[in-house]
Amino acid sequence: MMDAVPAPFALPRPIVLVGLMGAGKSTVGRRLAAALSLTFVDSDNEIVEAAGCSIADIFESYGEAIFRDLEQRVLLRLVSNVTPSVIATGGGAFLNPAIRCVIKEKAISVWLKAELPVLLDRVSRRDTRPLLKSGDKGAILSKLMADRYPIYAEADLTIDSNAGPHETVVKNILSMLKKRSAHA
Ligand code: S3P
Repeated sequence: MMDAVPAPFALPRPIVLVGLMGAGKSTVGRRLAAALSLTFVDSDNEIVEAAGCSIADIFESYGEAIFRDLEQRVLLRLVSNVTPSVIATGGGAFLNPAIRCVIKEKAISVWLKAELPVLLDRVSRRDTRPLLKSGDKGAILSKLMADRYPIYAEADLTIDSNAGPHETVVKNILSMLKKRSAHA
């Protein structure tokens, strides 16, 4: 675990992690927040809390459109919060133009980019993701990569989140944020 230290650079905006399921957004986000002494928020958890049921139940009982609506409401609120925090988004959030727009305006976005075998390995550890329930996980993820990677690429920073310790990913994000703040 890295020590929590005051950010060695100014962080006036929230940091928003985007990327596909299994990219490590929640794990890396929690560690990054600890390293920067910032609050960590996971938008999927906020949705679960607001709805009072799991993401899988929301998809099953109300459908994906209702989930996306909740996701938009939660993220617009989180990103507009005046206290900077580290926010992990669900994999589809950055695809929504309204969410993307507010993130671009008010946050620093970081795309955690990973290759298919790494994503597949990580998502196989949990069987709760509705989009991966019906069909071959590899085929679904590879289609999502083709559809979504051009949009994730609009994030301010892209960080490799392949196999290896999450701490390395956190260190790389910190060093890119530091460089960025030096040029601000
Ligand atoms: C989704 C990703 C999930 C969750 C929902 C939809 C997506 O979050 O928001 O199942 O569209 O990629 P994670 O990326 O945290 O798994």
